[in-house]
Amino acid sequence: MKIDILTVLPELLDSPFNHSILKRAKEKELLTIHVHHLRQWAVSEYGQVDDYQYGGGAGMVMMPEPLANAIEGLSKQTPYDEIIYMTPDGERLNQKIANSLSLKENMLIICGHYKGIDQRIREKYITKEISIGDYVLSGGELAAAVLVDSIGRLIPGVLNDETSALFDSFQDNLLAPPVYTRPADFRGAKVPEILLSGDPKKIEDWRHDQSLERTRERRPDLLEGEE
Ligand code: 6GU
Repeated sequence: MKIDILTVLPELLDSPFNHSILKRAKEKELLTIHVHHLRQWAVSEYGQVDDYQYGGGAGMVMMPEPLANAIEGLSKQTPYDEIIYMTPDGERLNQKIANSLSLKENMLIICGHYKGIDQRIREKYITKEISIGDYVLSGGELAAAVLVDSIGRLIPGVLNDETSALFDSFQDNLLAPPVYTRPADFRGAKVPEILLSGDPKKIEDWRHDQSLERTRERRPDLLEGEE
């Protein structure tokens, strides 16, 4: 999978992909990520990429021309399956969207800043608009990092049996069960007996029950239409 990211703040994306699971995905050459500075495609000599909004009002808007040049230039080198715009008014990211994007080959992710990008760019080039939740971030970069992390770990071969995504929260619409490690007695608080029993069937049933209970308690919305 190849992911290109277009941003006015590439520094914000220096670190998130260079650790842990995404680092391994890159090392195994299952994932390549390129971060591009929008300013490369600026049309004025000052490198301007934003301008006042028509109709007045506070906040700058990202200009159409640098974005169009960037998108068209990058698209010549890579035939994108999706051109994604990160925006708080996009479709809210969930596991189902991450699963489906993990099957794509090439993606371009555009990070908005200021008041966002000119509407005409959204209409002409963008194939998907994604938000990571109902709150406002200063820009799309951290949201893009979240999206890429959620997708990257699902690329076949990235996770091994130890870290398999199959048992993650949300993969089956259930939250994950509680987990424990040594010691079996931590300052008087004991690990549930059943986990020490060595009986895989009992342990599996217990974990499933715990998952259900947790989901019922914390996220009943996930169970709607299931039971
Ligand atoms: Cl994708 N961008 C911004 N700026 N804020 C957000 C978001 C995206 N998702 C949630 N809040």
